[in-house]
Parts: sequence; structure tokens; C-alpha cells
Amino acid sequence: MASLTNTFLPLGLSEEHIMLREAVRDFAAREIKPVAAHFDETGTFPVATVRKMGEMGLMGIEVPEEYGGAGMDTLAYVLALSEIAKADAAHSTVMAVNGSLFDYGLLRYGTEEQKRKFLLPVASGVKVGAYALTEPQSGSDAATMRTRAVLNEAGTHYVLNGRKSWVTSGPVAEVIIVFAMTDPAQGHRGITAFIVDTDRPGFERGKVEPKLGIRASATSEILFDNYECPVDQILGEPGMGFKIAMSALDAGRIGIAAQAVGIAEAAYEASLVYAREREAFGQKIGQFQMIQQKIADMKTRIEASRLLTFNAALAKMRSAETGKRYTLEASMAKLHASETAMFVANEAVQIHGGMGYSKEMPIERYFRDAKITEIYEGTSEIQRMVIARLELGLR
Ligand code: CAA
Repeated sequence: MASLTNTFLPLGLSEEHIMLREAVRDFAAREIKPVAAHFDETGTFPVATVRKMGEMGLMGIEVPEEYGGAGMDTLAYVLALSEIAKADAAHSTVMAVNGSLFDYGLLRYGTEEQKRKFLLPVASGVKVGAYALTEPQSGSDAATMRTRAVLNEAGTHYVLNGRKSWVTSGPVAEVIIVFAMTDPAQGHRGITAFIVDTDRPGFERGKVEPKLGIRASATSEILFDNYECPVDQILGEPGMGFKIAMSALDAGRIGIAAQAVGIAEAAYEASLVYAREREAFGQKIGQFQMIQQKIADMKTRIEASRLLTFNAALAKMRSAETGKRYTLEASMAKLHASETAMFVANEAVQIHGGMGYSKEMPIERYFRDAKITEIYEGTSEIQRMVIARLELGLR
């Protein structure tokens, strides 16, 4: 019988990568998988397991040890993230936003002091980080944000007013990268990134979103009412915010691709087990060609997604030396992997029939969790737009 954990490993993975993957797989099976259904059902944030993920170094895999991270590379990050997602997508969402959107932003654009003060506690898992770009009126068209930040007369603080929505970890985050318009006349070049402490006056957490899937990852609005952000908490330079947001999303989209691979694998492996065991018309359902076709398509799409994700991870690693953007690779990986997760989860429900629709099995959760990967950090439509523009030389 073929191994359920059999995966196609391209060149480029070291012994260290394999060991990390095994360690995270064991951890996720032991600590996360048994509690996933409970946290999904109750829609509560899994404080204890997120803390354990931090203790394992999973909240800052790519961050150098001096800033509280594990000092590993992007391949390590995607391998670990897929394993967490396989056990529970919601836990992997918290890890992904911490790792790619927050940590990456601070690591790439933060000053030494900002890294020590804000990156270290988040990368080491002591605090939870978040990233706030979207607003009620601006999702895909991110540059049209209305949140404003105005420098005070003394030149010491920016005063923020506005509202951000769909902030992953918004209800719990202690520090958030927030994008606000500092010079509306300049359009996207008038956007600035701020590192926001959530314990200062003028910051409020708004409505918590009741969600279809990834229900244990808390999502909310955040509101600013004359919130004073010190000038030394600008990330990068004033006006650089949109580029920071976009480059963090390049990193983030690789994480979502890895998450999607993990969800798809979980749904696929459950389907294999079921197809081998379930009988109909006097034989195992896996002996029917219609089920075999599903298995073949699911497996092939998962491996293609995994390779695209590795490819994007390698492009990001090369970019640290060359400075070359990896936007194309990240968008292709996210697009293919997220549509694969949805395809595979849908087929998994179909293979399981009534049991796939029942809350007695995790299949319906995989189906609900998969959908978000086609939406957040850029919808599939946005990924296609990014890919086509780059290929056609329109940007
Ligand atoms: N890296 C660096 N710079 C980039 C970039 C990238 N990947 N993409 C664009 N830019 C730069 C461009 O070079 C351009 O620079 P100049 O000022 O020098 O001209 C500038 O940004 C503007 O680029 P565009 O003209 O292409 O911008 P646009 O307004 O047409 O929008 C877009 C581009 C791709 C549609 C972008 O708006 C986008 O990605 N939208 C989706 C937003 C998104 O993913 N939102 C999800 C938010 S996070 C979330 O989901 C919640 C969570 O908590 C997980």
C-alpha cells in the first residue's frame, strides 16, 4: 500500500528541512489536530496552542535568531506551514499572518530599534502580530483607502483616524502594521506604513467577523480615533506604504499557497482512506473508475501546487541576494494552490458522500476552510490580473 505521507520532493530540500517537517507534523498531530474541531465549532481563538507554536519557533521561522526567530529559510517556512494547515487551517492562518505579513514587513523595512522592540516579541511567539490594509470600501483596490494619518504640529506623532476591516488576529494582536493615507493627493504614493501598539489610547477593536471557515482564527475590524503614533514607528519612509504592503503580500501569498497545499493534503488523504474502506455494489469504492479519476486529479493538482509553492519559496530566497521581485512566482503559487484546495476539498466531500457533509468528520471543515484561500491576500481574480499584467509587460 502506498504511503499516505508520500510526497514528491524536489531537489533543494536538506536533511534539516525534512527533520523540521517531521517535527512539525508530529507536533500538529499531537497538539492541534485533536482540538481543531472544538475551536472550529466554538469559533474561539486557540491561545494555548498558538503559544506552543511560538515556543516551537513557528511564529518566526524566517527571522534571524537575534530577533527572536528560528533563523531558517522560506522552504522551511512553507513546509512547516503546510503541516500546520493539514492539522488545522485556522492555526496556520495565525502563523501565516505573523510570519509573512508582520515579520517580513519588520524584517525588510524596520530599523534596528523597531526590530528589537516589535519584531522580537512577535517572532518569538510572546506577542501576536497583524497587518491591516483592507477597509470596508477598499479590498482588492487597496490604494483607495480612507484611513488618514496627519503629522501633529510638533512633528512628533501622526494622528490616525479611520477603520480597517478583515484584520486577521485583529481581536488579539498586540502590534499591527497599519497602512494609512498621509498625502491623499499622491494616491498610492501617499500611503505610509505605521507600527501600531494596540494598548495606546485611540485604538479600538471593532466587530468580530463570524466566518464560514478558519473560524478559530479571530478576524475583526480595528478603529482609530485620534490615535497618536510616534514618528519613530513609521515603517520605511513616508509614502512608501503601498510598496511595503505589496511586497509583504508577495511573501504572504507564498504562505497562503502553502496553507492551501496543507488543506488539500488533509482532504486528499482522508479520501484515500475512505476510498479504500468504503464499499458499494459489492466492492471498495476506490475500485470504481469515477473515484479513481477524482483521486488522480486530486493528487496531480496537489503535487503541481506544491512545486509551484517551492518554486515561489526559492524565488523569494534568491531575491534576498538579487533584489529581484518574486511577485509572479508568488501569485502563480497562490492562484493554483488555492483553487486546488477548493477543488480537492469539494471532491473529498463528494467521495465521502453523506459523511463528507456531516460534522462527524473533518471533511466539511476542509471544504469551508479551503474557500478563504481563494479570497484573502488577493482574490484569484487579482492573482490572474497580477500574472497577466507581468506577462504582458503592462507593469
Ligand atoms: N512589490 C513592490 N511594489 C509593487 C508591487 C509588489 N508586488 N506591486 C505593485 N507595486 C508598486 C508598483 O510598482 C507601483 O509603483 P510606482 O508607484 O513606482 O508606480 C505601485 O505599487 C502601484 O502599482 P499598481 O499600479 O500595479 O497598483 P494598482 O492600484 O493597479 O493595484 C493590485 C495593484 C495588484 C491590484 C493591488 O492593489 C493588490 O494586490 N490588491 C489586492 C490587495 C490584497 O491582496 N488585499 C488583501 C489584504 S490582507 C488580507 O487579506 C487580510 C489578512 O489579514 C490576511
